[in-house]
Amino acid sequence: MALSLVHSTLFSKTSQLLLHTKIGFSHFSSSIPFSTSALPSNPKTWRRPVISVLELGGVKIARDDVVRDDPTNNVPDTIFSKLGLQLHRRDQHPLGILKNTIYDYFDTNYSNKFDKFDELCPIVSVKQNFDDVLVPADHVSRSYNDTYYVDSQTVLRCHTSAHQAELLRKGHTHFLVTGDVYRRDSIDSTHYPVFHQMEGFRVFSPDEWEASGMDGTSFAAEDLKKCLEGLATHLFGAVEMRWVDTYFPFTNPSFELEIYFKEKWLEVLGCGVTEQEILKRNGKLNNVAWAFGLGLERLAMVLFDIPDIRLFWSDDERFTSQFSKGQLGTKFKPFSRYPPCYKDMSFWISESFTENNLCEVVRGIAGDLVEE
Ligand code: DAH
Repeated sequence: MALSLVHSTLFSKTSQLLLHTKIGFSHFSSSIPFSTSALPSNPKTWRRPVISVLELGGVKIARDDVVRDDPTNNVPDTIFSKLGLQLHRRDQHPLGILKNTIYDYFDTNYSNKFDKFDELCPIVSVKQNFDDVLVPADHVSRSYNDTYYVDSQTVLRCHTSAHQAELLRKGHTHFLVTGDVYRRDSIDSTHYPVFHQMEGFRVFSPDEWEASGMDGTSFAAEDLKKCLEGLATHLFGAVEMRWVDTYFPFTNPSFELEIYFKEKWLEVLGCGVTEQEILKRNGKLNNVAWAFGLGLERLAMVLFDIPDIRLFWSDDERFTSQFSKGQLGTKFKPFSRYPPCYKDMSFWISESFTENNLCEVVRGIAGDLVEE
């Protein structure tokens, strides 16, 4: 069992048990730019001024379409304000850098065959988010406690798997979908109610597995493992890996890939051979397919040494200036949790001056906020 939990895959049995167990990354105390105590205890009553209209993939979305005072709606302003940010589309942001590095792997190894989507609207139907990927009617992830509902039939996607069916129907056979996903959750250094996933999907036709002498499912499972082991090596270099059997409603068999990193087994992604029912419903009668879903924050925290998931949302220059386009794995350097404040001062001192005298004068006025 992997120890680190940054939004582990929601639908696997093991992960459900662990979802609210805080193990793994230690709490990061002194260097986060803002503390949880500054966050509202009840986001519905505490209102930060928010933009009222945002544009997503060319579509205008009004705040009132998403945040409503209505019992079927549980989306607070704080979540609405995240909808248009699209951190994964910023080339200088760790999540964008990671996305582009994964794109490079697929482009190189599959000669640009994978179609890429990173601007699909995160507001989806209950059908897309759950029914289309065979999530059972009584599954816990459908509850108002776990998912953000815009109304009884519309949610903020809780995984990028929500787009599998529509893309299959549109005829795509190789695709990667990257996007922000939303899950109601407590906030701490490894959990945040908005994070980012990448979904991968590949469809095979009978001639591809028939020549191998294998059945379609074994062929797809073998290809999937080879592809993802290659991806892990591309991201982490030569690392030890292991496959763990698991359960997802949309794949059978289903696996998790773990890598051994800094003396711990780290769960990297969930994947499997797509349930035949999903293919059948979407016009792929004689095919088999594989799919995977990976959490970008979890990987980026490890690759860039970022100790707190909240940092990804920081627009503090001391965070954003540390990363550059195409540079995977630059190591994050912690900075003060207090806002930067540059002031030059000159003054005359007497012979009896000591630094502590000065510090006490300053602290007498500014209090403990002054660090040095
Ligand atoms: N949608 C899953 C989650 O968020 C992740 C996942 C697992 C996606 C297996 C897949 C898959 O496509 O095959 O928990």
